Amino acid sequence: MGEIAYMAEGLEGVVAAATRLSDVDGERGRLTIAGYAVEELAPHAAFEDVAYLLLNGRLPDADAAARFREDLAARRALPPTTIDVVSDAARTEASPMAALRMAAARLSLGRPEEPLGDAMTAIAAMPAIVGAYWRVRQGAAAVPVRSDLSHAAHCLHQLFGEAPTAERARGLETYLNTVCDHGMNASTFTARVIVSTHSDVISAITGAIGALKGPLHGGAPGPALEMVFEIGDASHADAFIRAKLDRGERLMGFGHRVYRVRDPRADVLARAAERFYASDGDRRLYQLATDVEQTALRLLRERKPDRPIQTNVEFYTALLLHGLGVPVDLFTPVFAIGRVAGWAAHCLEQLRDGRLIRPQSTYVGPTGRSLGRATPQGHLVN
Ligand code: CMC
Repeated sequence: MGEIAYMAEGLEGVVAAATRLSDVDGERGRLTIAGYAVEELAPHAAFEDVAYLLLNGRLPDADAAARFREDLAARRALPPTTIDVVSDAARTEASPMAALRMAAARLSLGRPEEPLGDAMTAIAAMPAIVGAYWRVRQGAAAVPVRSDLSHAAHCLHQLFGEAPTAERARGLETYLNTVCDHGMNASTFTARVIVSTHSDVISAITGAIGALKGPLHGGAPGPALEMVFEIGDASHADAFIRAKLDRGERLMGFGHRVYRVRDPRADVLARAAERFYASDGDRRLYQLATDVEQTALRLLRERKPDRPIQTNVEFYTALLLHGLGVPVDLFTPVFAIGRVAGWAAHCLEQLRDGRLIRPQSTYVGPTGRSLGRATPQGHLVN
């Protein structure tokens, strides 16, 4: 057996790539996206500009921004056969992430494989896939794409069939920007591994969707929102959360493997939710959620005085997306609509700068086995 010097379970602590795309500083609670602090970029920038930034390494000037938007908008519509696949997935009650994976794989149809074109098409087409799936599942028809709306407004239009208010589009845009990239998470790593073989970007994004589909990567906002609904009234929060912690359960939406202080994305989304619920949505629910958060933080401090467990991105994701009318089932696909910009940019970066990703494994199986001799019937015996 060959000598392996070092093995990190789950590759924890292993640096797998050098990237210019995002920096996650878990000790100080900072997320930097291509040089910009997430709290500065996410609430103010257009999603199209953030996608351009990730793909090109700088924000666009006015001309480049206009061309980029036009190019993206021209790639929004799905070929009829892709709509058929999504509709079949919805009618047979395949999960939304399974539908997204099946449809993403078809984005190569009718186009030559080309990294930047594939990246743009994947970013542009995701809202139509998620929207068509959801509408067919509700017994409605997919709505034709509109090229005059911003990416975020188009996304809400695809889901609900009407153009959103500016506040709603801004709320979703802030969310998509906030989650566009986050270091070497499992789906991003998957995408990089696939293109590291010089496979195509659509294959890589299809694989990344497969990785995100697993509950350990994309699944906490639904349960976080359910907890707020179950509590129902702030006066029940203390007893409810104490009982949950007494049973050894975890509070969804709190704690993080990398951030040792508050997840900066939680702050961005908390402010976005506050702005949104000030003018729209159920103000009482917003107040209840903030009361639940405060109670949860107080009780987590009480139970774990030595371990800072803070609010993470999922808690306010749930509140914001719910306010925008996004059903819980679509929380992970809508996350993918934002994260695809990061996946696509990582693919281009890997193709440009990277090497084949090919780690090793330590063999821990049996050794010295032999095929033995064959019986007259041809079976092998040891
Ligand atoms: N509620 C209650 N206790 C907790 C929580 C929580 N949310 N998070 C950590 N703890 C406790 C845990 O029970 C353990 O206690 P003990 O030492 O007595 O066994 C201690 O803190 C350390 O737990 P750990 O799992 O070793 O800590 P971690 O920092 O590696 O865990 C985590 C990170 C996200 C898995 C965990 O905080 C958790 O399960 N949170 C709830 C689920 C959640 O919100 N997930 C979304 C994460 S954000 C998305 C992303 O960016 O990936």
